[in-house]
Amino acid sequence: MRKKIVAGNWKMNCTLPEGKKLASEVINMVQDEVNNEVDVVLIPPFIHLTGIQNLIGSTKNIFLGAQNCHQNQSGAFTGEVSAAMLVSCGASHVILGHSERREYFGETDELLAEKVSFVLDNQLTPIFCCGEKLEVREAGDHEELVGTQVDKALFGLSEEQIKKVVIAYEPVWAIGTGKTASAEQAQEMHAFIRQQIAKKYSQQTADSISILYGGSVKPENAKEIFSQPDVDGGLIGGASLKSRDFTNIVKAFD
Ligand code: 13P
Repeated sequence: MRKKIVAGNWKMNCTLPEGKKLASEVINMVQDEVNNEVDVVLIPPFIHLTGIQNLIGSTKNIFLGAQNCHQNQSGAFTGEVSAAMLVSCGASHVILGHSERREYFGETDELLAEKVSFVLDNQLTPIFCCGEKLEVREAGDHEELVGTQVDKALFGLSEEQIKKVVIAYEPVWAIGTGKTASAEQAQEMHAFIRQQIAKKYSQQTADSISILYGGSVKPENAKEIFSQPDVDGGLIGGASLKSRDFTNIVKAFD
């Protein structure tokens, strides 16, 4: 059985008091209302990690994640944060290769290969993001592009390592646009990614890896998307900033 995961990527939003209020509400609602076996990951800005971890404590099924991390252990990299620092603040997950990091901070698949391997060595679970821009989809090249992203960043890993990776398919044209991929488009790409993993490693490994969908997931569309056989959860942006909406997305698995 693959793990079901709903992760809230807060991006660069919320002051610390706002973030604490949001996290407290989500923690309470999830504890009171969610009956399913879903791992919930709260992913605030770095500076709020400790504050949010203090609220999560040992709450069952709620985890802490970071939005990025550097590929070196420590040293003269002003403004950067290492995997060991994240772990020491209570983080268990880290997003790598979000399309905003690729677009605005020049992150390449080669760099991401280094980061993925490095965070795994530090016992963090990478949530590796892939996804195509609109023009690539319109040209019909989306599978080739996503296949290349996954190949370059992940397929240097051993079979034992890749089993620990979570993949998030986030079509860039669906992020923050209100335009979701249809459930069929999501299923098609998730199945393709799984097939690539099966070809490279084994069907058993491919079947064990959680693949999340991200891009304008809302309470209204979550159930349909999550009901697809190869969709194992969601990476949520805008709707993760509203405790009621986010909790209702988690409940879409009930
Ligand atoms: P939205 O849910 O706001 O479209 O963002 C998706 C995303 O980028 C999550 O990482």
